[in-house]
Amino acid sequence: GMVGLLLSTAHAEGLQGKIIGFSQIGSESGWRAAETSVTKAEAEARGIDLKFADAQQKQENQIKAIRGFIAQGVDAILVAPVVATGWEEVLTEAKEAEIPVVLLDRGIEGPEDLYLTSVASDQVKEGRVAGEWLAGTVGEAQCNIVELQGTVGSSPAINRKQGFEEAIAGKANLAIIRSQTGDFTRSKGKEVMEGFLKAEDGGKNICAVYAHNDDMAVGAIQAIKDAGLKPGSDILVVSIDAVPDIFAAMVAGEANATVELTPNMAGPAFDALQAYWDAGTEPAKFIITESKLYTPADDPQGEYERRKDLGY
Ligand code: AHR
Repeated sequence: GMVGLLLSTAHAEGLQGKIIGFSQIGSESGWRAAETSVTKAEAEARGIDLKFADAQQKQENQIKAIRGFIAQGVDAILVAPVVATGWEEVLTEAKEAEIPVVLLDRGIEGPEDLYLTSVASDQVKEGRVAGEWLAGTVGEAQCNIVELQGTVGSSPAINRKQGFEEAIAGKANLAIIRSQTGDFTRSKGKEVMEGFLKAEDGGKNICAVYAHNDDMAVGAIQAIKDAGLKPGSDILVVSIDAVPDIFAAMVAGEANATVELTPNMAGPAFDALQAYWDAGTEPAKFIITESKLYTPADDPQGEYERRKDLGY
């Protein structure tokens, strides 16, 4: 109203009162749940009216949610795209409605002008960091690796596979002997690992499991224990996310390394939108978050507690 007009500039208002739609993938992992709660908290702290839609892992639900946000005339749309392809039509609709779109934590294929910016990690690097850790840890020893891939067609599954393969390429003692999707979930990770263990002499032929996220690693750890082997020593466990449960597994000696993915993608996304609206600042097309390696030498108990305090 008039008072607001007189008393505050757009800058002082920040994102207060903006309506922002968030099309979230679902709640397949602990990391995903943390991202959802951090996004809600970041929105609330900035006075944003966040419209949250959970797609239950289905792209068609995300497309419907985005169309709903466009129809409502939201100010901006955040989307964590479950898979990398098939977004052109709906994002063109958002563009035609002049609603800026920000991608969170996963990438898409297709023209970059369909989104304002993408806030995500360098997922190829995550895979490379995991692979380099394993290569450095086993040295010259022969090591058969089994891989638990993320959701088929998702950017983290594609890129984390590629980065890991790059890191072990040319090392004759390292080989991925089995690779299958566990859909980023704990239950699928366990189920697929059970199959790998059975197929590989009860696990005796497996030296390491590389899981594209911690939840699948936690499922695999359970399967390894059920098979009478020791995760963390009989079979090395390396994964990505750095959620509290993987640090708990490290404390128990059952996990060996993880690469951190921050759940706070929304903070940088909201900052970019504010700068864009306040000053017309075009954000960088790709805002890249850090990828830090953690092992049991990095105070896993403390890391566990710190994340629990953050509300994971
Ligand atoms: O896109 C990020 C990935 O999605 C996380 O690593 C995984 O846990 C989540 O399901």
